[in-house]
Amino acid sequence: MRTDTIPTISRHDYQPYPYRLPHVALEFDLDPLQTRVSSRLEFERVGNVNEPLLLNGQDLVLESVMLDGQTLAPQAYRLQDETLTLFPTKASFTLQITSLCKPADNSSLMGLYVSGDKLFTQCEAEGFRRITWFPDRPDVMSRYRVTLRADRMHYPLLLSNGNLLESVDLPDGRHQAVWEDPHPKPSYLFALVAGDFACREQTVKTHGKRDALLQIYSDRGSEPKTQWALDCLIRSLQWDEQRFGLELDLDRFMVVAARDFNMGAMENKGLNIFNSAYVLADKDSATDAAYRAIEAVIGHEYFHNWTGNRVTCRDWFQLSLKEGLTVFRDQEFSADMLAHDLSGAEAASARAVKRIDDVSTLRIAQFPEDAGPMAHPIRPESYQEIGNFYTATVYEKGAEVIRMQHTILGETGFRAGIDEYFRRHDGAAVTCDDFVSAMESVYVQRNPGKNLDVFRRWYSQAGTPRVKVDLAYDAEAHTCSITLAQHNEAVGIERLQSPVLPKPPLHIPFALGLLDQQGKPLPLEHDGKAAETVLLELTEERQTWVFENIAHKPIPSLLRNFSAPVIVDIERQESELILLAQHDTDPFARWEAVQELATRQLLCLTRSISDERQSDIASGLTETWKRLLHDPNLSAAYKTRILSQPTEKELLEKTSPMDPAAVVKAGKHMREQLGRALAPDWLDIYRATSGNDDAYRPDPLSSGRRSLHNLCLHYLMAAGHPDAQPLAVAQYYDATNMTDRMGGLSALVHFSDSPQRQEALNHFYEQWQQDPLVIDKWFALQASAPGATVETIKSLMLHPAFSLRNPNRARSLIFQFCMNSLQGVHTPEGYAFWADQVIALDQLNPEIAARLARAFDNWARYTARNREAIRAALQRIQQHPTLSRNVSEIVSKALK
Ligand code: PHE
Ligand code: ZN
Repeated sequence: MRTDTIPTISRHDYQPYPYRLPHVALEFDLDPLQTRVSSRLEFERVGNVNEPLLLNGQDLVLESVMLDGQTLAPQAYRLQDETLTLFPTKASFTLQITSLCKPADNSSLMGLYVSGDKLFTQCEAEGFRRITWFPDRPDVMSRYRVTLRADRMHYPLLLSNGNLLESVDLPDGRHQAVWEDPHPKPSYLFALVAGDFACREQTVKTHGKRDALLQIYSDRGSEPKTQWALDCLIRSLQWDEQRFGLELDLDRFMVVAARDFNMGAMENKGLNIFNSAYVLADKDSATDAAYRAIEAVIGHEYFHNWTGNRVTCRDWFQLSLKEGLTVFRDQEFSADMLAHDLSGAEAASARAVKRIDDVSTLRIAQFPEDAGPMAHPIRPESYQEIGNFYTATVYEKGAEVIRMQHTILGETGFRAGIDEYFRRHDGAAVTCDDFVSAMESVYVQRNPGKNLDVFRRWYSQAGTPRVKVDLAYDAEAHTCSITLAQHNEAVGIERLQSPVLPKPPLHIPFALGLLDQQGKPLPLEHDGKAAETVLLELTEERQTWVFENIAHKPIPSLLRNFSAPVIVDIERQESELILLAQHDTDPFARWEAVQELATRQLLCLTRSISDERQSDIASGLTETWKRLLHDPNLSAAYKTRILSQPTEKELLEKTSPMDPAAVVKAGKHMREQLGRALAPDWLDIYRATSGNDDAYRPDPLSSGRRSLHNLCLHYLMAAGHPDAQPLAVAQYYDATNMTDRMGGLSALVHFSDSPQRQEALNHFYEQWQQDPLVIDKWFALQASAPGATVETIKSLMLHPAFSLRNPNRARSLIFQFCMNSLQGVHTPEGYAFWADQVIALDQLNPEIAARLARAFDNWARYTARNREAIRAALQRIQQHPTLSRNVSEIVSKALK
């Protein structure tokens, strides 16, 4: 498709649908080659006059259209490429439409598709139109009754949303199931599944004392791997009742694992469909990280049942209404699970581990997006393809915007706001603004005369704000003034407007603490209360706060717990950072101080590498790390975060122009130096964190221990310590769980070129070739290794286990290389390979191709050599004659 012919949809053009559709009946004659879908749609007009009735459809063969029982002649409607328009004359009427689709030919994995020998659907955002002609928009909500018919032997199980009303055998080996969903829903929440599955189930009581049947369906043979997912689901139910008072509204809640899936999972009402990577786990095949990811995704989809399904989006510009809120909820769920059983400082530090991981994700994935050609507010203003807006901005920054409301209102205020939100909007399709208004109703009660008008700008402004901090100490008056000044630069398309408009200030909650010169927290008076942490609400461009009774010049601890998604600018001495690294009582800010120390060092290294100078790392840093490594009060999980180097990607964002080669070298240099300088310490801690033969559990304590154990091994390998390789080999072969096994293998794959590396890789493949999720890890590890080249990847693509059609496999090899192997991909061959893969994937699966197409969004900020090579690759993609709307939008924005 040519980019100049793709229409742009604007948020301001929203019009309500002119008809209601209270009841929908669907009948499916399922067959992978050709499925026939018959619909019966009862329409009622909303206004007093009949407007044209517009239905969406894609890749469908229309067989017949009936209006109130009469077949319509083709002249009676207008059938275009992706729309079917009728011209009704009555206030209410019934349409019956029959059409065909071809699941086996559908490699896009949107609509009805085949995965293995099973049938699945994916309808969000606009996939339902690939199933039947329909008003495929989230503000049209209907009750669905669904009849499924299929061959009984190949498809013994027929599932759809809601409750099973009937299941009967039909002649000629077929059978039929009838499902009814009592809750009105938009089409994007429809789902069906057909095939042969194993099922693990449990009935639980909700707090309203209702019985709910929870079921996890997966491939036959994989049922031993679904206990954890079921446990997570039960915990999700309990957590939503306890923390938000939200109870399951269904008698039956099903989760089905699919091998081929574009995203993580999908919250279809009562019938969640999951990427199997977020369902299946046992100790031999899944790492601790995989267990945690399953917990997060099971929670996320379950929580959507209220935030997304009971209250849904009016239009797709409101996507963050459900996604930002649900990500915030799943983050809180995971944090509460980590802190379970703990209290006080220990609980805070356990929760901080989750916060650190979430903020790292935000910085790696969202900050660059917010500074590049795809920059958009969490509520976008326009799009060409909505599939391109399932972004880190809508999800992760969206969650930060919800979290700021939580921070401003406090836990009880936020809960009151949520209660109000459901009181006002349960059962409706609403906007982000409706959400903020519900929160605001609580805010104004507690802050008379104030409102959230300035806060609302977070929904319409793109870009990461910078907050500059100035501290002035008055030794005579014993006062300390803190001045915060915010600056929001134009980004993305904002830069192309002329004149470039200045952006008004945002409402930024800024949590601050002050330490004395010995590192002791100072009590601060603010709003008539004394506390260790105060929340400054910056709503203007620049504001000053004065703190009294401060005996000596204090050291500020800034943006505690990352209270806003901003970048903090402050000039400060290394000695201040070292003090914070040792004493800050806010575990997030403490981690941040150590990261800042390491970042300074790394940036210094990148500069000396560009100038071809040698440089060593400062002793202050090694001393700090050594002390942290042995600190008896820190958990192993927290130590692993605090002693991990900032990632190459975070560092790359901070170089200007961006210089991937220098960043890779600097990272390697620092790892080697820290590895060597602290070798005896890494070795000690490595030994101290060895597991015993207790049964494996993915609990926070023992998984924290394993993560620190593996970190030690990595530093020892990086340092080339003589004991390291034998330890890695032994750890790999002797492991009794996948976390330890992967730790050993990845140490070898990343840091060794000895024959043992390839031996271990071969052994691993032999052992695990039957398990696709484990083989994904095998590909991913090789693709992201420092030495990976285009040749490595091309030869792995020839491996019989490789396929471009399976998104998990494509991600594990192609995406891993293009996104994470900076050394290998930032070469002329690397860029050419990337362009080839975008084009090849686009012919199969535009959603996935468009994600790969974004690998070098920020090409214009790279050094001249990289820049020109990426531009050429982008232009080659753009000139390809048959590009999807998805990829077109991405490359045309990148080249603007
Ligand atoms: N709504 C899903 C989620 O975040 C994501 C998704 C979007 C899945 C589009 C598939 C397709 O939970
Ligand atoms: Zn979601």
